Amino acid sequence: MNSRTFFKIIQLLLYLLLLFNASESRFRRSQHHHICRKESQISFKEREILAKLIFTGTVSRIYKSHSRVYRGIVRIKRVLKGDRRLSDSHVIIDGFGNSKLCKSEVKERDTRIFLVNRVNGRLTLNSSLIRVNVNNLRKVVAAVKSK
Ligand SMILES: *[C@@H]1O[C@H](CO)[C@@H](O)[C@H](O)[C@H]1NC(C)=O
Repeated sequence: MNSRTFFKIIQLLLYLLLLFNASESRFRRSQHHHICRKESQISFKEREILAKLIFTGTVSRIYKSHSRVYRGIVRIKRVLKGDRRLSDSHVIIDGFGNSKLCKSEVKERDTRIFLVNRVNGRLTLNSSLIRVNVNNLRKVVAAVKSK
């Protein structure tokens, strides 16, 4: 085999690999979308009622594991529902990357609104993460107030 043929073969293999990767990630995305649709069917008010603790906070550290779901340390800024004494404390939040939730992925330094519950003694993400902005904060505060 001359070097030119060899190069052609490598090129073809790379092309096939790219094609395979692209279709796989499309499959994963559609699968994820299918699972998280359940969450989008329940109203925001219901999601708020389910969560016993709601706060704004910043992810200070992520601990990825072998499983899809991972945990992280979050510095709580402002408690919107639940024990206000948790403000300014660092807590471990479990359940990031949960495919049942539409938005459950975080990176270090992300600031979000977290809706969590205690599961087997661990604070666990119970609902999709929400971006922090004036509108979203208003929406959450209004939901918590209305009983
Ligand atoms: C959220 O919390 C409620 C009440 O504990 C529970 O029934 C539900 O399964 C939780 N949802 C998720 C996605 O963990």
